[in-house]
Amino acid sequence: MRKPLIAGNWKMNKTLGEAVSLARELKARLKDDAVETLICPPYPALALVAEALRGSKVALGAQDLHWEDSGAFTGKVSAPMLQSAGCLYVIIGHSEQRQLFGETDETVHKKLEAALRAGLKPIVCVGETLAEREAQRTWKVLETQLEALKGFAPATLATLVIAYEPVWAIGTGKVATPEQAQEAHLFIRKRLASLYDANLAGGTRILYGGSVKPDNVDAIMAQQDVDGALVGGASLKADDFTRIAGFKPGVAQSSE
Ligand code: PGA
Repeated sequence: MRKPLIAGNWKMNKTLGEAVSLARELKARLKDDAVETLICPPYPALALVAEALRGSKVALGAQDLHWEDSGAFTGKVSAPMLQSAGCLYVIIGHSEQRQLFGETDETVHKKLEAALRAGLKPIVCVGETLAEREAQRTWKVLETQLEALKGFAPATLATLVIAYEPVWAIGTGKVATPEQAQEAHLFIRKRLASLYDANLAGGTRILYGGSVKPDNVDAIMAQQDVDGALVGGASLKADDFTRIAGFKPGVAQSSE
C-alpha cells in the first residue's frame, strides 16, 4: 500500500515569523494518520519550523540541495546540513530550478545520490512544458527526465517519491484533468518498472503537482496511480492545505 503524501512547497515565501506561525497552525490541524503530510519552507526557516513541528504528524523537507557535502560552494546547502536541520525530505529537479537556475538531468542525478547518501527522502520532479505537450513530446520528455534515476541499487530507492508536475499547470490555475494526470502517472510507473522492476514501481509514490486546490484535489486523488500532491500556492494558507490534506477520493469535482 502506498500511503498518500500531501506535500507543501512554500517556494520563496514566508519570513521566519510567518513560517513558524503557519507551521504551528498546521501542527494543530493535521492529525490524520492515514495521510502523510509534509511542508517545505525556505532554508532560513527550516530549523525553527522543525522546532515548531516537534511532536506533530507534519514532516519537514527542503526545496533543493547541493550534491557535495561541504566545501567552497557559495550560496549552496548540503544534504547533511538539511538533515541536521530536521529535514526528512528534499525536493529535487523542480521545474523552476530547471527553467530558471540551470538544473539538468545530470544535476538531478547527483542531487539524488547525495540525498540518498544522507538518508533524506527524495521527491524528484518531472514534467513537460506546454510547447512539449503540444508537440506531442510529453512521453519522450518524461522518459528522458526519468533517466536521471538510473544507476542506483534498487534497495536504496525505497524512499523515492516522484512528482509529476506539468509545467503548464504550475501556478497557472490550469490543473491537468484527472485523466491526464492518471495517464502520465501510469506512464511514469511503467518506466520505473522497466528501469528497475515491478516491485519498485509498485511501491513508489507518484505525486501530482500543478494548481492543486481544495476544489480539485478530490478528483485528482481519486485516480489509481496518483499517490499524493505537491502543492505550491495553496500550501501557503492553513485552511487550503488542511482541506487538501483531508481530500476525499471518489468525490466527483469539476476540474475547472
Ligand atoms: P502550484 O505549484 O500548486 O502553485 O501550481 C506547484 C509546484 O510548483 O510544486
